[in-house]
Amino acid sequence: MRPHTLALLLLLLATPAATRLASAACAGEKFPAGRAYAACEDLPKLGASLHWTYDAAKSSLSVAFVAAPAAAGGWVAWGLNPTGEGMAGAQALVALAGSGSGSAAPTVRTYNITGYVPLGNVSTPLDFPATDLAADAAAGGRIRVYGTLQLREGMRAVNQVWQVGASSTAGAPDKHAFQPDNLGAKSKLVLAGKSPAAASPSPAPAPHASGGGAASSKSPNAAAAAAGVAAPVALVLALVGFLATV
Ligand SMILES: *[C@@H]1O[C@H](CO)[C@@H](O)[C@H](O)[C@H]1NC(C)=O
Repeated sequence: MRPHTLALLLLLLATPAATRLASAACAGEKFPAGRAYAACEDLPKLGASLHWTYDAAKSSLSVAFVAAPAAAGGWVAWGLNPTGEGMAGAQALVALAGSGSGSAAPTVRTYNITGYVPLGNVSTPLDFPATDLAADAAAGGRIRVYGTLQLREGMRAVNQVWQVGASSTAGAPDKHAFQPDNLGAKSKLVLAGKSPAAASPSPAPAPHASGGGAASSKSPNAAAAAAGVAAPVALVLALVGFLATV
């Protein structure tokens, strides 16, 4: 067993979320101090995950994208595509594995991907201005890319694309494979409009004893409610009140 595999295993065992890994492996991700995200999603292809916090008031989306490059020394990328479903139009964050020894920090770039042409070795500005760009290397040869995107007001759901590549040349990511998983690496990121929190519990039903119509039977209920008495006690009190009137 390779050392980082063991480390990952120990990390998972130490995490309460380990028991839920089958449903959401992303929940077990341990980020460096100061990096926490409100939501995460295991993306359906390429073993990638997205972690994010969306501040609707500021239309600010803070993300961490996690994936392993197709080979050591490769790259990982994630982006939003407000104009289409594929790569063309994607506003992407790309992290290239550190060159030389694997311990060098990955390099982050932003690319406004205008078409199916090679990306260069310099960032281009995004339609969603990106700040707080960073990346680190994680267990299992994975790379984690961090950034905050300034979205347009009112964005609710937006197409996302992600990708992994095996190599870079002169600081530019080389073309990725075109296997089904590469081509299928896209989905919709829902920023808002999640199912609302479960409706607040409705108040305990009024005891039937008050059906007698006697005014006095209601006062114990009111008193019980005011005192925060549990429903069974309120029922007994209501019954006493009802009996008192007959
Ligand atoms: C991104 O590319 C598109 C297509 O070329 C262009 O219209 C847009 O202005 C670019 N965005 C930025 C921020 O440069």
